Amino acid sequence: MPILRARARPTGAAEKGGALTLASRRARNNGSQSGRRLCVAFLTVTSVPALGQASALDPAGAEASSIATLFWAMVVGGALLWLFVVSLMLYGIRRRRRVHDEWTAGRLIFWAGAVFPVVTLFLLLGYALWLMPQLRPWAPAQAAATLRIEVEGRQFWWRAVYHRPGDQPVVTANEIRLPVGERVEFTLTSSDVIHSFWIPPLGGKMDMIPGRTNRLSILATKPGTFRGPCAEFCGASHALMAFSAISMEPEAFRSWLAAEAGPARPQPSDGARLFVENGCGACHTIRGTAASGEVGPDLTHVGSRLMIGAGTLPNTEEAIARFIAEPDVVKPGSTMPPFRMLPETEIRAMAAYLKALQ
Ligand code: CUA
Repeated sequence: MPILRARARPTGAAEKGGALTLASRRARNNGSQSGRRLCVAFLTVTSVPALGQASALDPAGAEASSIATLFWAMVVGGALLWLFVVSLMLYGIRRRRRVHDEWTAGRLIFWAGAVFPVVTLFLLLGYALWLMPQLRPWAPAQAAATLRIEVEGRQFWWRAVYHRPGDQPVVTANEIRLPVGERVEFTLTSSDVIHSFWIPPLGGKMDMIPGRTNRLSILATKPGTFRGPCAEFCGASHALMAFSAISMEPEAFRSWLAAEAGPARPQPSDGARLFVENGCGACHTIRGTAASGEVGPDLTHVGSRLMIGAGTLPNTEEAIARFIAEPDVVKPGSTMPPFRMLPETEIRAMAAYLKALQ
């Protein structure tokens, strides 16, 4: 299957399913480029495969449970208030011919119009204030955090660094793994514009603001795979900036982190050679090779991730090849230059090399 696909079938295209070869695509490349990009961006957004469960009302973490409980308390409290007010209104409509004396009316206004709303709002406020310390990163439970994950938002991907006492930091990107039953502290920063870090089933949302470090504490209580979207508009590909958050049993997590800390062990191949020759190592790091750039995501174990392009495409050789060829189309606003000028065989060789980096 060719790397580049037509999003709208060109007039007279004979290719089955509207697919074009790389060569024929180049011939047509000067056409309505911006319209095509818009169209592709739309189709990419609407066809993003699920990164995992994303509902804040199906919690898998202690903080998310508190938030879901607060939500339902507010819904039930709000519904009861609504019923009470509507009942009062119906009462007023039905009994409109009878005039209350001043004392009864005054009592009704005092109890129903002042005491009841004040008590109800104070109860709801008190409940929210009681919950808040558990959501704060400086809660006493925070002291129990033995794992700190530093996450940096960038247009439009996530750099993640795992810090454990006594161990070397482990750098990865676009996928966050954490152990079930162990408190994790996140330190959140940004190097360009404001992004926002959010794993709805695990905890609350926290902005990533250039020039400051925000902290968030999360305790996952169930294993699972969850979608973490960027929750603050940050540019053209804001909707294509997401990550998978995977909560794992502690033993499995430790094995994964130990493997992630190691260098890549690539076999010598055309793809490995082309990756270096085309200058990819100036922006990407693959530990254990000459590639040591820090502009783009660390690719040391990119083949083992669920998705590529920060939640944009499934992690297949086909998708990696497509991303290398046209990142400007797959992810508008991305700083990665397109490599569609390379022969298709070379792009495929690099894709195979990257996919093999497990
Ligand atoms: Cu990053 Cu929106």
